[in-house]
Order: sequence, then C-alpha cells, then structure tokens
Amino acid sequence: MTKRALGVCYYPEHWPEDQWAADAVRMAETGLTWVRIGEFAWSRLEPRPGDLRFDWLDRAIDTLGGAGLKVVLGTPTATPPRWMLDKHPDMLAVDAQGHPRKFGSRRHYCFSHPGYLEECRRIVTLLAERYGANPHVQAWQTDNEYGCHDTTLSFSKAARAAFRDWCARRYQSVDALNRAWGNVFWSMEYDSFDQLDLPNLTVTEPNPAHVLAFRRFSSDQVVRFNRAQAEILRAHTDAPLIHNYMGRVLDFDHFDVGADLDIASWDSYPIGFLSDRLEASPDHKARFLRQGDPDCQAFHHDLYRAVGRGRLWVMEQQPGPVNWAPFNPAPLPGMARLWAWEAFAHGAEAVCYFRWRQAPFAQEQQHAGLLRPDSEAAPALAEAAQVARGLRDLPDTAPAPAPIALIFDYASAWAWTAQPQGADFDYFHLVFAAYRAARRSGLNIDILPAETADLSKYAVVLAPGLMTISDTLKAALAGFDGQALIGPRSGLKTPEMSIAVPLGPALPGLDCTVSLVESLPPGTQVALETGEHFVHWFEHLEGGAEVALHTNDGRPAIMRRDGLHYMAGWPDDASFALRVHTLCRRAGLVPLDPPGDLRIRDTASHRFVFNYGPEPVDYDGATIPAAGVHWSAL
Ligand code: GAL
Repeated sequence: MTKRALGVCYYPEHWPEDQWAADAVRMAETGLTWVRIGEFAWSRLEPRPGDLRFDWLDRAIDTLGGAGLKVVLGTPTATPPRWMLDKHPDMLAVDAQGHPRKFGSRRHYCFSHPGYLEECRRIVTLLAERYGANPHVQAWQTDNEYGCHDTTLSFSKAARAAFRDWCARRYQSVDALNRAWGNVFWSMEYDSFDQLDLPNLTVTEPNPAHVLAFRRFSSDQVVRFNRAQAEILRAHTDAPLIHNYMGRVLDFDHFDVGADLDIASWDSYPIGFLSDRLEASPDHKARFLRQGDPDCQAFHHDLYRAVGRGRLWVMEQQPGPVNWAPFNPAPLPGMARLWAWEAFAHGAEAVCYFRWRQAPFAQEQQHAGLLRPDSEAAPALAEAAQVARGLRDLPDTAPAPAPIALIFDYASAWAWTAQPQGADFDYFHLVFAAYRAARRSGLNIDILPAETADLSKYAVVLAPGLMTISDTLKAALAGFDGQALIGPRSGLKTPEMSIAVPLGPALPGLDCTVSLVESLPPGTQVALETGEHFVHWFEHLEGGAEVALHTNDGRPAIMRRDGLHYMAGWPDDASFALRVHTLCRRAGLVPLDPPGDLRIRDTASHRFVFNYGPEPVDYDGATIPAAGVHWSAL
C-alpha cells in the first residue's frame, strides 16, 4: 500500500520571515503534508564566495517542520549566483550557434565544466552535512529540471574536451571511431581524438553518427552531474533522493539518471503543455484549452513511474494560469483537483502544487499559486483542500497490474532528431500517438525501457520507433505469447546510427524486411484496406510472413507471425486506436472504451474515471461532471 499526500513548493527567501509561521500553519490547515524549499536559494545561502548564511534556512526548516510539515530540500545548483561567473568565467553553457548563455535567469551552467561541478559538490556537501540528519528534512531534490530551457546540450570548450575523453573511452581507438561513424564518407576521418569537435556549425548537416554520439555523451554528462550530488547526499542521509523531470523533455536518458535516485518526480503543467508542447489540431486545442490534453499527464505518470522503478511524485502541479506558454488560460474549476487524483491513481505518492503564493516580482509574477500575491486564496486552494479531505477517505491504494506495455527509448528520440528523414517525424509524437490509442481502451498501461527482458506480465506490447531492438528485447519478444506490435521505423539501425545489414527489423521468427522507407508530407497519406490511413511515414515490406493488413492498393501494411506484428506506417489516430483494439481482443482483453472524453485508471482496489470534457458524461450509473473525478471500489 502506498500512502498518498499533498504538498506545495515554497520560497521562504521570497517573503518576510515574520510571514513564515502563518504560512506554515495555513499549509497544514489546508491539509498539505510536504513542502519543497531551497532549490533556487544559492545567492542567499552564500551571498559571497565562502560567506555562508544557513541560519535563515535553519529557521525556515524549523518553522515549517514545527507546523508538522515534511520538508523536501532542494540543492540550489540550477541557479549559480552572479559571483560564480567571476570565479569561473567559462562555466556558461554555449548554444549551438556558439553563443554563451548569459547570467540573468537560471540554468546557465555547462554540465561539463569541472570547476562548476566542484562548486556544486561543495555546496551540496555543506547542505548534506548540516541537514542530512535533520528530522524535518524527509526528502531531497537534486538541482531543478535538468534540461529545462534547452540546457542539456552545450557546445562549450569544456564540453568539447569532455566529449573527446568520452569518445576515447567508448571507441578505444580513433580508427574504431572512424569505422563506427563511417567517416570515410566525405573524407571526415580523424587521426586523433584531439581533432574531434562538437557537431555544430558544420557547413551542411553533420554526420548523424557524430550527432548521436554527442547526444549520448550529453546525456551521460547529466547522469554524472546528478550522481555527484546523489553520492554526497547518500553519505549523509537516508531520506529519499528525487529529481523533478519535465514534460516532453527527452534530451537525456531519464532511466539512467533515475538509477541513482529513489523516486522520479515530474512537473505537470497540463494547460501550458497543450498550448506549447503538443501536436494537436486547433479543435483539440480549443476543446481542452482549460483542461490540458487528456492523455499527456497519464503518459508522463506512466513514464516516470518506470523511471522511478515504481516510485512516482508530481513535484510541481499547475494550480492556475502559468506565465510561460504563448497563451495562458485559467483551468476549468475542478481541474486542480482532477490532475491530483489522476496522479494518485497512476501511483503518485505525493502531488505538490507549484507554488504556495504567487510572487509579485520577477519572471514568474504572472504565474498563479495557491494564494494570490496579496495572500488571499486563489481558486486552487479550495481544490487542494478538497483533495486533502478526500485523501482521508482514500489515503492509500496499491497499484493494479497493467495488461498493456509501451516501450520507450531516449536514444531513439535522439536518433530521429539527428535524422528525421521526414520533417515532421518526431519520436515523442509517434510514441504518444501509440499511448493515446492504447488509452482509448480504458486499460492500464505500463511504460518500459528498451532493455526490458521480461514481458510475461503483459498481454499487449507496443514498440514504435525503436532505432535498434536490443538482443535483450528480441529474446523477450521471442518468448512472448501475447500480442506485440512493433514499428514503424523499429529495428532498422545499428546502435552507431548506420542502416542495419541484413536489413531490419530482424524480429525473431518473423520473415519480414523493410526494403525501402518513405516519409509523407502533411496532407498526403497511404490508404489502408480498412478505410483508415498511414500518415508521416510508410515502409515497403518484403518477406514470406502472413500479411495481417494491406494498404488499399494491396501492399503489406502489417505482417505477422502468431502474435508478433510489424507495422509499416504511422497510423492516423483512428487507425492506431483500431489496431490496438484489435490486438487487445486477440489477446483476450476486454477494452472498456469509455465514452466522450472520459479516461480510466484502475488501482488494485478502485476504478477512477476522469472527465476531461467540458460537459457532464453518464458512465456506469454515475453522472461525471465536467472536470470531474469519480471513483468506485472494484
Ligand atoms: C518549472 C520550474 C519552476 C517554475 C515552473 C513555472 O519548469 O521547475 O521553477 O519555473 O516551471 O511553471
């Protein structure tokens, strides 16, 4: 059983100290349990190099803890203070155009800068020594949103030096690197690792193998940076270590970062994401303007539950309008409640609203909180209190098994960014389309990493867009007796970003080869015999395997052996839903197919139904209002 709790993000350094106690009491009265603090406070902890001022943080932690709140303490390394630049002028991240990112916001550091890493080790050690055993500090957050504001990739001198070392370790000899990347092409061969540069500012596109290597390296730099903090914290505390990941940020391998932490959390801004980050029709964006996309939150809960090896939080939950999307409408009444329950139904142990009080100053002054800048209640405060009351009746629920699995792989996202081949071929877009299709069934979904060795718990497995299919996954598929849908664009490349020869997908026992790929511009499509379409992408299939679905003009669209299917294209939404539905039926599952804009998630004991639509829907004997949540015991 997992205990569920609510929390909030708080910045004591933003408010007069005589306000802290009243804030803490009001948080507790609202029913909040957790309070996250500290993650941007470096300039107040160390206003000048070596001038440490932790006394105010001692008092803040005492005040919050004294009110019964549990503190999540953030390390402040996402916001190096201004003096840091004087000490380390070359610590700035450098963009692909070669411009250093400037001071004046946040995240301006380069992950590869050795001097900055040392400064981070120093401040984290000081915090860990001082608060590691503090009874009020019951969890730690490392840094804040790795990758936010496009900061994973840095084209600095420090990154170049570290990339050369990384390549020397990976390839051992420069000849091996030349062979792996195919550098004989265009006379790109190197004589030594010292000649290697980063893949920016080339005349035309750089070698995609070079780009992929740089992406893998950049991801490893995030892992290394996070690990440095995790190791220090571990030596001083038994409290769980957490990072707050983002929505649709794939620039580093979250599974690798997560391996050094105890819980994966993410920052959920449903309305901002729909406006800013998701492909969707204008009608879809209009319909869900004030609710957010009905599948986006669930997708990330499922993804990060996997990254956290079962342990999930939402560290920041949108409470009202945000400030950073192109347009920032207010949520429908009820959404701040719905989003929290949806997270809990997906296994979240805690949901923390961002933030306690709206700041009247600086970049996020237009970002809502639970309180207005004048300390009056903003609309989400009452919804948070309502969730807290609900948690008294339903304080814990065990997760239910999921019959459907979706494979997710960060390296594939990097591969298809390096070589989209079609301007709108995007890995997240494709995987999310598969997820949406699966979620229409109303059945639980698990997301799994690409190295998954055991699929036996699942009835249906989906694996779109995997650049390579590892031997581990192939072995799991060989022994899988459910229904698997692999492709499109899966298993066609080597790990070094060449075309696999013999040609892929080379699935166990499936006589099916991709002989040619083509991308389809917007407005064009390949018609299927069932009346739907492939869009964006189509592959020509050869081989003796059974054709399970044809295109309208008689070419293979899906080939299969028993339950193992390879799909030649990117189905439109209707077709994707039909494909998954058919597989579920073949696997003996009974899709629930909820009507309207209802979405379902089961826990071991309850069925939760969420109405993302702007009008009420009748379902299973209940009327679920717009933005409403309904649960019943199973
Ligand atoms: C997150 C970030 C917070 C705050 C918030 C605003 O990306 O972690 O610090 O900026 O967005 O929505």
